[in-house]
Amino acid sequence: MEQSQLLTLLEEKRDLFVSGEEISRLLGVSRTAVWKQIRKLEAEGFAIEAVPRKGYRLTGRPSRLNAAELQSKLGTTAFGRHLHIREVVASTQDVLRELAEKGAPEGTLVIAERQDNGRGRMGRSWVSPPGRGVSMSLLLRPDVPLQLAPQLTLLAAVALCRSLGRETGLQIGIKWPNDLLVDGRKISGILLESATEDERLRYVAVGLGIAVNLDPGDYPEALLARAVSLKMAAGRAFDRAALIAAALLEFEQLYALYKEQGFEPIRILWETYSVTLNRTVSLNAGHGFFEGVPRGLDDSGGLRVELPDGGFRTIYSAEIGDAAPLPNAKG
Ligand code: BTN
Repeated sequence: MEQSQLLTLLEEKRDLFVSGEEISRLLGVSRTAVWKQIRKLEAEGFAIEAVPRKGYRLTGRPSRLNAAELQSKLGTTAFGRHLHIREVVASTQDVLRELAEKGAPEGTLVIAERQDNGRGRMGRSWVSPPGRGVSMSLLLRPDVPLQLAPQLTLLAAVALCRSLGRETGLQIGIKWPNDLLVDGRKISGILLESATEDERLRYVAVGLGIAVNLDPGDYPEALLARAVSLKMAAGRAFDRAALIAAALLEFEQLYALYKEQGFEPIRILWETYSVTLNRTVSLNAGHGFFEGVPRGLDDSGGLRVELPDGGFRTIYSAEIGDAAPLPNAKG
């Protein structure tokens, strides 16, 4: 018997008791096996009330992410089905890359409660207090040339934006290429790292960081103007396992769509959720700032920026900030 099956059963019964006899019949195992699994769940932090002649009742869940609970919520075929949950790692990206090198299948997921060396885009670090955020890395093995990797970055942003928006009811926008914002403040960051061979992608480690249940005190003062958690924005806490399951399902479905129909449907979705398009911004593409108005994505996932002289420039990597409107900009 899988631990997740028992958990699903107890969750389904909600506040009601379910007898050991019924569990053993429904799951096709002995009552001793049921009792052993109940003890295991308790050891992992689940509170289970056991009353003679009535049975078992789930009364509390651990605040730690738990493999059985997450698996019981997963609706995916591959994403998250090979699951590694760790308490502390340097970076989930490193753990995933190690697994990928050993041949781990597409959809393998590494989650950590704490990262000692979590990293973000542009060489920045990524810090999240244990138990309140989501730090995870997902393995993709797409059969696409290296120059199309930006498409996957945008796909990841759309998947997270749609799923988190649906689960929380918040209006979430995408800042190019893949920061998720609520009212202009960042709630999630995405980092893609790839391994290549002969100009093709061998695998991609999609790193996702989500500020779920952080409180204002969890942020350095200086960051509060630019960052916010889902809990702070919505005024209520969220079940992290449910959010992860929703994000993985959306990701898996959009990835299937991408493999079937190419980038076009993803491009359209990304543009729908973007908060970057059609307004004047300042861009730093590595060699100084310039201003322009992002107008849309090109076929490979690059951002087409209209310049003050009316010309266009396509960028693949840059830092975007606000800018004073240019006199001749249309945005
Ligand atoms: C960014 O906004 O700069 C991207 C942040 C990405 C953070 C996630 S957390 C899980 C994964 N492991 C890491 O070390 N980074 C990513």
